[in-house]
Amino acid sequence: MPSTKTQIAGFPFENCLMNAAGVACMTIAELEEVRLSQAGTFVTKTATLEARAGNPEPRYQDVPLGSINSMGLPNQGLDYYLDYLLELQEKEPNQTFFLSLVGLSQEETHRLLKQVEESEFKGLTELNLSCPNVPGKPQIAYDFETTETILKEVFSYFTKPLGIKLPPYFDMVHFDQAAAIFNQFPLAFVNCVNSIGNGLYIEDESVVIRPKNGFGGIGGEYIKPTALANVHAFYQRLKPEIQIIGTGGVLTGRDAFEHILCGASMVQVGTTLHKEGVAAFERITAELKVIMAEKGYESLDDFRGKLQYIEG
Ligand code: DHB
Repeated sequence: MPSTKTQIAGFPFENCLMNAAGVACMTIAELEEVRLSQAGTFVTKTATLEARAGNPEPRYQDVPLGSINSMGLPNQGLDYYLDYLLELQEKEPNQTFFLSLVGLSQEETHRLLKQVEESEFKGLTELNLSCPNVPGKPQIAYDFETTETILKEVFSYFTKPLGIKLPPYFDMVHFDQAAAIFNQFPLAFVNCVNSIGNGLYIEDESVVIRPKNGFGGIGGEYIKPTALANVHAFYQRLKPEIQIIGTGGVLTGRDAFEHILCGASMVQVGTTLHKEGVAAFERITAELKVIMAEKGYESLDDFRGKLQYIEG
């Protein structure tokens, strides 16, 4: 029987599949559902210092080939997620979970990370540099100067394992420039990709979500080729200590297989989890194992990053 075990920053996980931040992770009840499913772990909804109501509804819509959202960072505030994680690590000392966060300003981001640093939290922290949905706040990771400034400051005080959630990039020069910045820092992982920002979905003659006149982040089937390109571009460019989490367009075991082939060590499920519920983890894991068995692969190491090119 093939194994889909993996590790990130030396922490072992029984399965390489987990939720993508934003889906099934706003409340403890949702997080517990993911935790008790076939998922290897979970990530919490991106937290800000204070709880936020987010944008007016409707603000998320499943559509035939994916989803569109402009949630606007609704969350329960850092203390809610951190208190839960601290309790959980007492109860389940052998399991590791991901905490996602970002401030509404650089100052707030540092306050959040300093709170995590000073806490007893022993898990993985994901700094979200790619929220596309707060009106007036551009995505941090599309501004390379600001990204470098933030990471320099962060690593002057943050000593726990830290990764970053990235938006998709679309130009080879941008892959090069972004990787040159990330390689300067002791990042545990980069997570590629967040939604493709600010798409527009129309039904009859109307948009389908209220905020920003219908503009929102696109997920699901639409984004797999972009996600795979980002996973592989960073796998090729980053130093080997920085692992890749692959997110985007995972509907089937085949999609997860492709993310791993491109270099992913962990694979996140967003839109499909929203559409199908936590049963998606069991289905996708089983499908991935069938593919591995057919190919004679026993572990993810047997094919991770081994994407084949057409020579000549
Ligand atoms: C939201 C959306 C994102 O893609 C993200 O990374 C963070 C927050 C949101 O709208 O809530």
